[in-house]
Amino acid sequence: MSQPDPYAELKQRQRAMWASFAPTALFTTPSAGHLVKFAGIAAGERVLDVATGTGVVAITAARAGADVAALDLTPELLEEARENARIAGVPRVEWTEGDAENLTYPDASFDVVVSQFGHMFAPRPDVALSEMRRVLKPGGRLAFATWPPEHFVGRLFAFIGRNAPPLPEGVAPPPLWGNPAVITERLAARFEPPFFARGVMKVPALSLGHFRLFMERSVGPIQKLVESLAGEPAKLSSFRAEFDALASPYYTDNVVRQDYLLTRAAAR
Ligand SMILES: C[S@@+](CC[C@H](N)C(=O)[O-])C[C@H]1O[C@@H](n2cnc3c(N)ncnc32)[C@H](O)[C@@H]1O
Repeated sequence: MSQPDPYAELKQRQRAMWASFAPTALFTTPSAGHLVKFAGIAAGERVLDVATGTGVVAITAARAGADVAALDLTPELLEEARENARIAGVPRVEWTEGDAENLTYPDASFDVVVSQFGHMFAPRPDVALSEMRRVLKPGGRLAFATWPPEHFVGRLFAFIGRNAPPLPEGVAPPPLWGNPAVITERLAARFEPPFFARGVMKVPALSLGHFRLFMERSVGPIQKLVESLAGEPAKLSSFRAEFDALASPYYTDNVVRQDYLLTRAAAR
């Protein structure tokens, strides 16, 4: 990308915001298994995991015998990813600090590009998508997991959006990546028609209070919002009450159900 990035400052903030995400990766581990299977990743395939975080998808693909590269904005998470790869016995994964909107890989270098709850946070869907298509070989597959706007996490993002400063102009709300009609339209120019599936992430919690505390400590956008309300106790307690009301219908049997959407499509 030769022009200066208009969202460089936003990405700096996102990098800082996601640094505390590592404990949450315990719950993104089962969906990583789902995504790798859904993408049909086979031994010997060259795979890129975009916005890898602590590496749950990349390492699952490497354990299936793929030759894996993985990229993320946040160096703290990549450090965890390297340690996870060492423990899992897959030391050959290539980890790169970088941006989904400006991939540092040559054209047509991957059989499969995957992203779990990751590329959806890049500010410009078209830029991230065109980069992911560029690095795919002809006929290669794109597969990703996203949060639908109508289920818990999508609704939570909308709730956070209502309580946080507005997104900079031109930034697409991430949960639009969870809408099959929007995805179909975004993919149309560069991919065959997509195939969709759904799954449920199950987050154990002893009470809604435990769940909220966990989210406040580990999920950057919520952590930042709570920090910003630290001097306004009335607003903070009304935010917490609203959070509990939002989460309550999804909380049964000591588990919070978080429905996600899987999409896969072959490159044209
Ligand atoms: C919800 S976490 C998901 C991490 C991991 N894929 C998983 O499933 O556990 C979102 C990730 O997106 C990364 N991210 C956000 N914006 C990004 C961008 N523009 N380029 C690369 N990574 C980005 C964050 O650093 C964070 O690791």
